[in-house]
Amino acid sequence: MKIVVAGGHGKIAMLLHPILKEKGHTVKGLIRKEEQADDLRKAGAEPVLVDIEKEDDISEFVGEADAVVFAAGAGAGSGKERKWSVDRDGAIKLIEAAKKNGIERYVMISAMGLETPRGDEVFQVYQQAKVQADEALRNSGLNYVIVKPGRLTNDEGTGKVKIAEKLDRGEIPREDVAHVIAEVLEDESIEDVEFDLLSGKDDVSVALQEFV
Ligand SMILES: NC(=O)c1ccc[n+]([C@@H]2O[C@H](COP(=O)([O-])OP(=O)(O)OC[C@H]3O[C@@H](n4cnc5c(N)ncnc54)[C@H](OP(=O)(O)O)[C@@H]3O)[C@@H](O)[C@H]2O)c1
Repeated sequence: MKIVVAGGHGKIAMLLHPILKEKGHTVKGLIRKEEQADDLRKAGAEPVLVDIEKEDDISEFVGEADAVVFAAGAGAGSGKERKWSVDRDGAIKLIEAAKKNGIERYVMISAMGLETPRGDEVFQVYQQAKVQADEALRNSGLNYVIVKPGRLTNDEGTGKVKIAEKLDRGEIPREDVAHVIAEVLEDESIEDVEFDLLSGKDDVSVALQEFV
C-alpha cells in the first residue's frame, strides 16, 4: 500500500513509519522543515517538503496513494491562529487533496473528549478546530477512520489497548497509537468509524475486531 502521512515528523508519525515499512508499505511524509528529511528516511519514509499552512492546494505534494493519515498539529505552545490553520485547515486540505487525487481512505488522529471542551481559551480553540476537522471528514464522502486517543505519553508501547465509542479520560503511549493506525490501514473492512482509544488489556487486533 502507498500511504501519505501529513505531519510526517510528528512523534506518532515517526513511530508509524517503521511499522508500515516493516509491513511492506511505501510511506511518504509531508514535512515543512528540510532538516527533518534525513530523520524520515532513517525511519523508512520518503520526505516531501510542503508547508500545509502556506499552500492552498496540497494535492501535488500528496500525489498518488491508497490512504492518507493526518498526524499534523500546531502543538502545545502555538496560538489560536495555528489551531485553525493546522489542526482544522491542514486536515481539510488533506481531505481535498485525497478527493482530487482519487485517494479513498483517510485516517484522522483526533482526540477524545472534544464534545465537552475544557481548558484555557487556546485549548478550547484547539478542540473546536479538531471537531470541525472531524466533521469535514465525516461529510467528505471519503472512507474514514477517526482515531481519538486520550492523553498521549512517550512511554514504551505495551501493545495492549482499549477501544470503544466513548471512554473515560485516560492516557496511551504514542507507540500504541501508531500500532492501532497501522492495523487500521491494513484492514479495509474498518471504514466510516470513529473510536476513543486508551491503554487497556486487549491486543490491538482483538480490540479493533471486537469494536467494529
Ligand atoms: N498531546 C496529546 O495528549 C494529544 C491527545 C490526543 C490527540 N492528540 C493529537 O495527536 C496529534 C499527533 O500527536 P503528536 O504528539 O504525534 O504530534 P506532534 O509531535 O506535535 O507532531 C505534529 C507535527 O505536525 C507538524 N506540522 C505543524 N505545522 C505544520 C505545517 N504547517 N506543515 C507541515 N507540518 C506541520 C509538526 O512539524 P514541525 O516540526 O514543522 O512543527 C509536527 O511534526 C496532535 O497534533 C493532536 O492533535 C494529542
